[in-house]
Amino acid sequence: MAFRVLMLLLLSCLLAHGIRLGMAQSYDPCENLTDYQYKPSEQLPHGRRHFPNGFVFGSATAAYQVEGAANTDGRGPSIWDRFAHEFPDRIADWSNGDVALDHYRNYPEDIQRMKAMNLDAYRFSISWTRIFPHGRMQDGINDAGVQFYHNLLDMLIENRLEPYVTIWHWDTPQALEAEYGGFLSRNIVKDFKDYCNFLFSEYGDKVKKWITLNEPMVHVQRGYDEGLHAPGRCSGRANRKCVAGDSATEPYIVTHNLLLAHAAAYRLYEEEYKVHDQKGVVGITIVTFWFLPYNPDAIADRFAVDRSLDFNYGWYLDPIHYGRYPRSMVDLVGPRLPTFTNQESDMLKKSYDFIGLNYYTTYYAKNNAEFDPVHLRYTRDSHAITTRTYSQFLAASQMGSTWQYKYPEGLRNLLNYTKNTYDDPDIYITENGMGTQEDPEQKLEEAIADTMRVEFYNDHLASIYQAIKEEKVKVKGFFAWSYADNYEWNDGYSVRFGLNYVNYTDLSRHPKHSACWYSHFCRRSEQPKDDNKADKRQHFCRRRSQGSPQRCSIR
Ligand SMILES: *[C@@H]1O[C@H](CO)[C@@H](O)[C@H](O)[C@H]1NC(C)=O
Ligand SMILES: *[C@@H]1O[C@H](CO)[C@@H](O)[C@H](O)[C@H]1NC(C)=O
Ligand SMILES: *[C@@H]1O[C@H](CO)[C@@H](O)[C@H](O)[C@H]1NC(C)=O
Repeated sequence: MAFRVLMLLLLSCLLAHGIRLGMAQSYDPCENLTDYQYKPSEQLPHGRRHFPNGFVFGSATAAYQVEGAANTDGRGPSIWDRFAHEFPDRIADWSNGDVALDHYRNYPEDIQRMKAMNLDAYRFSISWTRIFPHGRMQDGINDAGVQFYHNLLDMLIENRLEPYVTIWHWDTPQALEAEYGGFLSRNIVKDFKDYCNFLFSEYGDKVKKWITLNEPMVHVQRGYDEGLHAPGRCSGRANRKCVAGDSATEPYIVTHNLLLAHAAAYRLYEEEYKVHDQKGVVGITIVTFWFLPYNPDAIADRFAVDRSLDFNYGWYLDPIHYGRYPRSMVDLVGPRLPTFTNQESDMLKKSYDFIGLNYYTTYYAKNNAEFDPVHLRYTRDSHAITTRTYSQFLAASQMGSTWQYKYPEGLRNLLNYTKNTYDDPDIYITENGMGTQEDPEQKLEEAIADTMRVEFYNDHLASIYQAIKEEKVKVKGFFAWSYADNYEWNDGYSVRFGLNYVNYTDLSRHPKHSACWYSHFCRRSEQPKDDNKADKRQHFCRRRSQGSPQRCSIR
């Protein structure tokens, strides 16, 4: 009798276990790739083991590009909701982010897929209007939205994926845009700071890596100089579709307020949170192309390279490091460039713990001898024409999206430049990746066979490795853009940047070859033998030497 009971118990145990196994979804990104064989990279055959201990590998997204659920559970509209709905003709496929990948509901699956890729971290952004639908706390907190990010964070931490949280990824609350012009007004500084204060106090025990702003330059250039991104402002001469704006002044005003908002958030964290118990770090994500002189023998083109870097990169990094704008901008923009008071300048100086760097491509810079002094605008003020079209070797490496050319050396040069220009900061590559043009005729098997993307990541990681090894740049991590195909702003769903393919009909995700490649690259095998020995010896030393560890130093 006892034996039969035991057998029954055993059987039911096995059954339950079997059922659970059967039901468990497998997310191994290599499992369905019949015609793909992982080949270790030539430059980096041991994958992540070439990188320093603690180097972080992750992937990145942004709220409006992936979350969807735009009108769900009390979320309020941002300037991107309004822009995509009011001006669908400015979006390549007339689409919007209402549904996107529905990451809002599918995040558990997405986290499992990231985990199966052997990633250490996930960079995502918080939708301001999911927290404060009207932009400010006193106008209402959306509890469901607050809870959503708790759930997301908890699940990430359970799965050992460290959250890197972007606070603002271009989606300013529409209510604040309507009330005072959003970042055109200095009022935004206080409202942004209050929003940050809420996030720090609400999520600060779960989040140790904060990124205040994402790519302010692109927001300003596309949103206030070209009218291609929300809020879609510019001079009529720059883009006839713009109904309001001024490309000569607004990019500078908005940047000024973005910088002040960043500094306010940084100081808030430093004074109220860091010194107490949160002990996290706060950075900012800046994007720039690298530039080569159009004619390397022309001194004027070499100066055009310097000015291009100033107008794209120094515009942000000079203020947050040195507390002032680059000299070339002061000279060329003149009275249109706002100025910082001494107090603001002090607030800005060294207002970051790390630089988040986004790198995609390299362009040529050519001196612009025919500067038009009447029709001023930001993109012309550098007196440099940045061009891809005249390129000889770059043209051969055009990627799927028309603006992108593959030039991994540019990333190494940019890292080296950043180290030398800004006193050797800690740097995370917060985005790097390549887009491919959507082809509706393409079969899934073809769409996921992204050999070019595998090579792109391989070569850029090799370039980062060189910068760490040869130039001793302090790069701390790498985030592939993007975890999955998503809403590519004014390109809509027509350009795909993902490691995972997304079918926008049923929202199913399908790992591309690059996802499989990255999962191999990021695999954590045992430490190399030597390191193991060293660790053991160090441990042994520490125990033996009792207070005089230097005698036992093994490095
Ligand atoms: C592989 O295909 C099966 C069947 O379609 C699917 O259930 C599974 O999720 C796929 N694997 C991945 C990693 O997507
Ligand atoms: C790094 O910067 C130094 C100083 O500007 C320069 O001489 C060197 O060529 C650079 N190296 C790389 C790989 O960019
Ligand atoms: C996307 O999903 C739909 C519906 O499940 C399916 O009919 C279509 O073939 C899929 N597209 C691709 C490219 O796999």
